[in-house]
Amino acid sequence: MPYSGKLISFEGVDGCGKSTQMALAAARLRQSGYNVVSTLEPGGTKVGQAIRELVLHSGAAELSPLAELALMFAARAQHISEIILPALNSGYVILCDRFTDSTFAYQGYGRGISLKVIADLENTLSQGLRPDLTLVLDIPPALAAKRTVDRNRSTEECPTRFEIEGLEFFSRVREGYLKISRREPQRISVIDGQGSIEEVHNRINQCIDAFLENQRPRTSNAI
Ligand code: TYD
Repeated sequence: MPYSGKLISFEGVDGCGKSTQMALAAARLRQSGYNVVSTLEPGGTKVGQAIRELVLHSGAAELSPLAELALMFAARAQHISEIILPALNSGYVILCDRFTDSTFAYQGYGRGISLKVIADLENTLSQGLRPDLTLVLDIPPALAAKRTVDRNRSTEECPTRFEIEGLEFFSRVREGYLKISRREPQRISVIDGQGSIEEVHNRINQCIDAFLENQRPRTSNAI
């Protein structure tokens, strides 16, 4: 069933700068008159926040890759029914900090879980819902890791269960993003995440504007 709203997800390895960029993009879209919902995964709902705490911060080192996968989809199923579907039905542009492309990149390419298993779960637990547009902020994993370490130092936050993974893990995740973007170039755009915040913001704007322009009903000049 077509929705009047649109779902745009922001993706990339930890430290790629997407939360700053998503906030800038949301502010700009609101200024242009769009009704915007900003949300995130895992999280976005009370249930999702509890799952986020468990998966990211509980220090549950023993959490198995399949349990991690199931928890990501549990958070998403709740997020979809509580936030995303109502907003799509009401015509909002939803900006989502991570969605199922994260699961393919992290649990699939990063942890090594079969992509078919993930695709099957997507069909059932996400009701087949995919972002209309996914923006992958691409930066070298070593640079991303350095940014994460610097940020955690300045905010005095502990690294998450993912942030403690090494460069090899994040290189697989990055490659995963590049692979899935090659498979779905219409839906997934890779954006160079290096450069100033403003440079990256401008690249993202171009992409979102082109996408939204394409969604508008065409007026015909034919008589
Ligand atoms: P977060 O602190 O939001 O990191 P970031 O700001 O980089 O997004 O943590 C989210 C983490 O959860 C991130 O390391 C990626 C991971 N994740 C998955 O592994 N699979 C998923 O499906 C999702 C949504 C997130």
